[in-house]
Amino acid sequence: MDSGLSKTLERAETDLTNSINGLKEIDGLSVTETIANCQLHGEYKKWSRKITMMATIKTETICPVCAKEKVDQIKQQIADKKAKTKELEITKLLSWAEIPKRFELCTFDNYLPGNKSAERNLRICKAYAEKWEDRLKNGGGMVMVGLPGTGKNHLAVSIMKEIIKNHQHYVLLTSVNKIIREYRSTWSKDTTKSESEVIAEFSSPELLVIDEVGVQYGSDSERLIIFEIINTRYEEMRPTILISNETREQLAEIVGERVIDRMKDGGGCELVFDWESYRK
Ligand SMILES: Nc1ncnc2c1ncn2[C@@H]1O[C@H](COP(=O)(O)OP(=O)(O)OP(=O)(O)O)[C@@H](O)[C@H]1O
Ligand SMILES: [Mg+2]
Ligand SMILES: [Zn+2]
Repeated sequence: MDSGLSKTLERAETDLTNSINGLKEIDGLSVTETIANCQLHGEYKKWSRKITMMATIKTETICPVCAKEKVDQIKQQIADKKAKTKELEITKLLSWAEIPKRFELCTFDNYLPGNKSAERNLRICKAYAEKWEDRLKNGGGMVMVGLPGTGKNHLAVSIMKEIIKNHQHYVLLTSVNKIIREYRSTWSKDTTKSESEVIAEFSSPELLVIDEVGVQYGSDSERLIIFEIINTRYEEMRPTILISNETREQLAEIVGERVIDRMKDGGGCELVFDWESYRK
């Protein structure tokens, strides 16, 4: 919080307390009580205390209603400022999340489950977002596998947006291809970015969603970079969500059973999307 504003609030609160309880006698300096008149609120009891040392310092209490209004007004200012800061933070994090335009409007509310499995997946994703703090503490990720057009991205993006809105955490949507592109860019002559910087880049978000995890994995070193990222995140207990069109078994072959297991550590889970595409 703004320290200037919080000091102002402290002072106003002291004024309010004094206006109700009166001033205390200090060092034998007597306190006098009179009835004063506030132009807005009428008569009130006023306490005064005078100290004369080099100069005379007079302390007087003010109208308690005015004092209360002042405190409320500062509290409101602080709340407004906080809300504004939060709003800016959310806008920034939404842009950092790299959610493609296509999914910008996706939320839990506009996901319409057409069958029991979809209902279940929606429920689990909602719970994931609601229990985010636990998930984050325990590094619990998720695996979403299944057929095209079934709403894997829709639900992953909904989770991301909830986390940004409610927790202002840094979440990022990426894909295996994007990671590999970043990794390859470190080979270029005119780049200063190193391999470990690429790993750090994808390890830093509190939640990383990796889309299109599938057979398109290229060389061994490319496979390794993906594993490095997942592993670094695992070790730092940062949740990762993997999305794939492969079956659970194929995915296990591609990324290794261990990786899938790691997603589930800390209360993560596996969701299967095995119905017809919503697209047509
Ligand atoms: N149950 C649903 N209710 C509302 N919209 C849905 C639903 N399922 C999918 N959609 C919409 O259909 C489109 C395709 O969904 P999405 O991209 O999330 O699917 P996907 O499972 O990620 O597909 P792919 O495997 O091809 O990437 C999106 O625009 C999404 O918002
Ligand atoms: Mg998708
Ligand atoms: Zn007053």
